[in-house]
Amino acid sequence: MRLKVAEHTSVHLAEGRVVLDDYLRHRQFELTAPLARLCWEFRSFAETDEVLAELDVEEREVVWPVLRRLLDAGVLVAEGTPEHRAEQRLLAAWRNGGPAARHYHYATRTFRDTPYADADDQDRALAATAAADPPPPPLTRRREEGTAGVPLPPVSDQWADGPDAPDAHGLPAAPGVAGGGARWGERSLRDVLLARRTTRRFHSRPVEAARLGDLLAVLAGPVPGRPGPDQDGNLFKASPSAGARHPIEVYLHVVSVVGLEPGWYHYDAADHVLEPLGPPWSAGEVVEASGGQEWVGEAAVQLCHVATLERIWWKYDTARAYRMVQVDMGHLSQTAYLVATAMELGVAFTAALRDESLESVLGLDRDREIVLGLTALGWPADGGTGGLRS
Ligand SMILES: Cc1cc2nc3c(=O)[nH]c(=O)nc-3n(C[C@H](O)[C@H](O)[C@H](O)COP(=O)(O)O)c2cc1C
Repeated sequence: MRLKVAEHTSVHLAEGRVVLDDYLRHRQFELTAPLARLCWEFRSFAETDEVLAELDVEEREVVWPVLRRLLDAGVLVAEGTPEHRAEQRLLAAWRNGGPAARHYHYATRTFRDTPYADADDQDRALAATAAADPPPPPLTRRREEGTAGVPLPPVSDQWADGPDAPDAHGLPAAPGVAGGGARWGERSLRDVLLARRTTRRFHSRPVEAARLGDLLAVLAGPVPGRPGPDQDGNLFKASPSAGARHPIEVYLHVVSVVGLEPGWYHYDAADHVLEPLGPPWSAGEVVEASGGQEWVGEAAVQLCHVATLERIWWKYDTARAYRMVQVDMGHLSQTAYLVATAMELGVAFTAALRDESLESVLGLDRDREIVLGLTALGWPADGGTGGLRS
């Protein structure tokens, strides 16, 4: 019988132990030195009798039952069996994603009998967590206590509640659009959905701070009337978020916005101000950080979306929560697309980024704050939605 170690396994270290992880079936085995030697022998298909023949009689008596158990557990596969064919199908399907993608996918794939706590149990568990360890702040502040941020125009009546919100009438129209200037919140949802496209050519005209401010408030601030946070640190925003954790913070690179100094900022949604982080990049640096995409460097503003993982880990201690962070990004990006479209701005999302460059310019802790994507914003140039690239 020819056997090999199944390729839906990996080896990791955990507190001084070496663990052989069958991530397909969510089973872990401690890899002792003799077992590690055995796995080495079966790193590709090997004839069992030949491997056993190398051992003395006593060793053989120990090793044979181990092989049997590993075979029954599916950690070893026998050549030509249905298990072998299933493994080959799995490897072929995940060829492009490689071992890292298939590992993460299967390790976080749930089974028919995966336990889920009911809502009451979850609430009780969360209350206990909150009592022992208060939730992290739901909004980040990057500036020193007592220092002021760079003010943005007050959020307009298209988003804020109350009589003090300035009227959003009178915003200039998009270049080349007759009339324009309509109140962005009053455009029909259907029209906005149908008009939404990815813009990859931007006009050099600056964007007004009022438009940018409203967009930032919609993306990162609580919805009017529900300022929160509740006892679990939950806020309610325009985009849905797994567990209402809203891990995504919005940073921005201002290139051309009326009344704002170009540079890198963090948006403080609590005070609706910008927190300066550093001088602007050249267009070339922006392009370099976005995988060489020239059009990203033409935008008036680049929003950089960064997830603060501690908000997620406070509530969820499962690897699957990391999937939710990516799903949150999709929802937030769509909100950016729709609001920008309603404002007549051109908008595009890209995840083709050089994370390390952005982590460095934003001063992020790469183990806790992860770059997810970038939204480019600006007035669309004629034909700005062309150049389809999927
Ligand atoms: C997760 C994600 C990543 C994307 N990354 C890029 C990108 O790196 N470059 C790009 O030109 N467009 C990117 N896009 C935009 C898509 O190419 C675009 O949505 C698609 O071509 C459909 O066009 P539409 O948005 O106009 O409907 C991305 C979109 C999403 C949702």
